[in-house]
Amino acid sequence: MRLPDDATPYKIDDGEWYVVGDAMDVLAEYHGEAAAVFLDDAWARPGRVQQSGLAYDLHPFDEGHVADGDDVDDTLTTVELIDACRAALVDGGWLVADADDWLAPRIVEYLRTRWGDTPATPDGGGFEKLGGVTYLTEDGRPDRGTHGEHLTTGGYTVVFTHDGPTERHTDISARQVATWPERTYGRGGRAKPIGPYEAWIDGLVDDGELILVPCAGTAPAAIAARRVFGDDARYICVDVEEAAYEAFRERYAEEFSEGPASPPETDFEGERN
Ligand SMILES: C[S@@+](CC[C@H](N)C(=O)[O-])C[C@H]1O[C@@H](n2cnc3c(N)ncnc32)[C@H](O)[C@@H]1O
Repeated sequence: MRLPDDATPYKIDDGEWYVVGDAMDVLAEYHGEAAAVFLDDAWARPGRVQQSGLAYDLHPFDEGHVADGDDVDDTLTTVELIDACRAALVDGGWLVADADDWLAPRIVEYLRTRWGDTPATPDGGGFEKLGGVTYLTEDGRPDRGTHGEHLTTGGYTVVFTHDGPTERHTDISARQVATWPERTYGRGGRAKPIGPYEAWIDGLVDDGELILVPCAGTAPAAIAARRVFGDDARYICVDVEEAAYEAFRERYAEEFSEGPASPPETDFEGERN
């Protein structure tokens, strides 16, 4: 097993990597290895004009949902990514996927059909819970700054699914609150908060277990893993764009006083096991 030739791995710390490359290619290298995958996909809604200021391409949900726009890359779909995430999970591992009001019902339907429907069959695997993040203002009210004239969402939905029956139990809430990060780190659109992922990782993952963060951007889940496990954190972020790694570096340095190791590291193989 190895990284595809055109991927560039950057070492953040022992066991912590940010790979600039295609998420599908990297996920394929980690068959059955990840305790959890945190996915914030670059999905496109049909008919959506790309949100102004976004610095990356979007792709359609599946072949039945044609998405238009100059910045839509239809060589990859969200469901293909979801399937690749599943293949990378250990038995009973968790997929934690960010969604919006368009994506959430479609992704849940896909997961219920393909992975299973645990509210209906509690001993099995599959879609487990709809959770999410509610952004609060300083006075503790739901933040109304998110888009929408027919009610605002004040945060986003998160879909929790496990591959097969799981012994990874937790009473951590699938619904978390956070303040909405102001910064975009040059990526367009505000980054996701770290705190909710910290809570979910604390509940679902043990120290030393592998966490994968495809479509990572500034990778709040990876920073959360570092917060929870310190030197025992083990994650691999993947983003197709070098600028995403630069954004992650900036966020990582902001979070921890020392930044990640700087030069590209080529000794990736030695870190595999
Ligand atoms: C919604 S953003 C993630 C934002 C992140 N949660 C944050 O808070 O910064 C989706 C990311 O997916 C990346 N992406 C799109 N297609 C990809 C692919 N095939 N492989 C890896 N990354 C991809 C984009 O470059 C973008 O950074």
